[in-house]
Amino acid sequence: MQKRRRWLAIAFGLIVASMLSASAADAQSTAALDPAKLAEIRDQNAKCFACHSPEGLKSPPRQDMDLDKLKTMLHDPALYETSSHGRVECRTCHGVGATTFPHGANLKAQVSPCSECHAAKVFRIETQFDASVHAKTQKDKFTCWSCHDGHVYNIAAKIGAPHKIIAQDNAMCLDCHNSDLQFSKFAPVDKRRPLIGRIHEWLPNTQLHWAAVRCVECHTPAGRGFSHEILDKSKAEKNCVSCHSRDSSLRTRLYRHLLAEEEETLGFVNSVILPHAYIIGATRNPWIDGAVGAVAALLIVGMLVHTVLRLGAALWRRRGRRPA
Ligand code: HEC
Ligand code: HEC
Ligand code: HEC
Ligand code: HEC
Ligand code: HEC
Ligand code: HEC
Ligand code: HEC
Repeated sequence: MQKRRRWLAIAFGLIVASMLSASAADAQSTAALDPAKLAEIRDQNAKCFACHSPEGLKSPPRQDMDLDKLKTMLHDPALYETSSHGRVECRTCHGVGATTFPHGANLKAQVSPCSECHAAKVFRIETQFDASVHAKTQKDKFTCWSCHDGHVYNIAAKIGAPHKIIAQDNAMCLDCHNSDLQFSKFAPVDKRRPLIGRIHEWLPNTQLHWAAVRCVECHTPAGRGFSHEILDKSKAEKNCVSCHSRDSSLRTRLYRHLLAEEEETLGFVNSVILPHAYIIGATRNPWIDGAVGAVAALLIVGMLVHTVLRLGAALWRRRGRRPA
């Protein structure tokens, strides 16, 4: 009963949280975009992809341009369209200077900041980001864009499957932390790149962990949900039990979208389904725990009944056999 009440509370919390976050979404929602508008966006973006895509580079619409430079600026239309910004026109962020070629002079400086469309979210996230190791050590160089490539990034809730979320979010960190070139662009001149494998040697099955868990799970403050505050290494999570336990911290982090979605489609009681009981030593399923308990209880009752019947039968037989 206690358990069920806790699940009710969690489900209720999730519903309220999703309602709150929906109302706080300030970027104009494109969820119910009409097909004509969508086609118009695709047409506009196709103009950019005519040059800025692998296809475009193969048959450029004109020859009088720096093809070597263009080669470093290609984008995949399919990846773009399935990203969170897939329904945003390129020129909305890049400005009208991008719509003509040759492009306007300081195109780079004209890009819209995230806050232009995500004011409320940026307000919340920026305070966390400002407290992170990266913002503290690399003040001006490190921006939202250093982690989020807005041309491909997808929000976790939309991805759903944990292994895909993990792949995307870990690539974010590893593209830089596993690349001397990229790392050196941000690190102080005398800083050598620490080898990620070597640093985490204390973690058994390190490779398996990289595929099953995100860097941010250990490198952000514990607690509900996700914070953008990447902590100092001395504060990183080293305690195995924080994940390898029944009340795993992963439930309110990595798996939170999964649980929310299942709660929506299956009802909250069924949401704690077995296939997702990744965590060693925990089924996280009150129904199975209940069923096992019921089976055990039935067994005991069965044994008691059996004993009583046998005792009764033996008594009856003995009385029957007694000489009159
Ligand atoms: C006719 C080909 C062509 C088209 C169409 C085109 N671009 Fe470009 N773009 C280039 C080339 C070549 C470069 C690199 C050299 C340069 O800037 O001249 C470039 C550079 C850029 C840059 C980098 C600027 C910098 O200084 O770092 C951005 C951003 C950009 N384009 C965005 C866009 C957007 C957005 C569109 C569509 C609205 C678009 N481009 C359409 C060819 C094109
Ligand atoms: C949400 C805003 C946003 C949208 C939408 C967007 N971009 Fe960008 N783009 C940026 C930002 C920010 C940068 C600068 C990244 C940096 O400084 O490294 C950038 C960089 C670029 C560059 C130059 C560097 C590179 O890696 O190629 C090109 C080219 C470019 N964008 C093309 C496009 C095209 C084509 C589209 C549409 C299909 C598009 N962008 C949509 C924000 C956006
Ligand atoms: C021109 C406006 C614009 C700019 C600038 C912009 N975004 Fe967005 N962003 C959007 C729109 C529109 C959506 C889609 C919202 C939806 O589908 O409900 C979106 C969605 C997102 C999402 C998915 C989560 C959500 O709220 O739906 C993330 C994450 C995101 N943007 C991050 C960024 C980051 C980081 C930057 C800066 C590097 C940025 N955006 C800049 C317009 C913008
Ligand atoms: C150190 C890398 C990193 C930096 C820097 C970063 N982010 Fe994120 N961001 C992430 C990761 C990882 C997630 C996925 C977390 C999750 O949803 O579980 C995320 C998720 C998000 C989301 C979607 C979830 C939410 O809370 O709404 C938004 C919006 C977002 N980031 C915006 C920003 C903005 C704005 C900035 C700059 C102030 C920024 N990010 C800087 C790593 C980063
Ligand atoms: C664009 C490059 C880049 C990205 C992306 C990046 N980092 Fe870093 N990170 C750095 C650099 C450079 C340093 C070293 C800063 C210094 O020592 O001044 C650093 C330092 C750190 C440190 C050590 C802090 C300390 O106490 O010494 C941790 C932990 C860390 N990053 C975790 C992450 C995580 C987790 C992600 C992904 C969510 C991430 N980083 C994404 C460049 C990056
Ligand atoms: C299971 C928890 C855990 C995971 C997952 C994890 N880390 Fe760590 N990380 C730690 C701990 C704990 C330390 C501090 C180790 C120490 O000081 O001995 C650390 C240290 C670091 C440092 C500091 C290195 C230095 O000495 O300056 C960086 C950078 C880092 N991690 C990046 C990452 C990246 C990138 C990922 C994802 C691929 C990741 N970590 C995944 C727990 C974790
Ligand atoms: C941030 C969460 C997290 C932390 C912290 C963590 N683990 Fe894990 N660990 C996982 C996940 C998730 C898996 C994958 C489980 C699976 O796929 O069956 C895993 C897998 C493992 C496995 C492999 C199990 C198997 O089925 O092969 C071992 C062993 C392990 N962890 C030991 C540890 C030890 C020891 C520590 C502490 C030093 C630790 N873990 C810390 C999340 C974590």
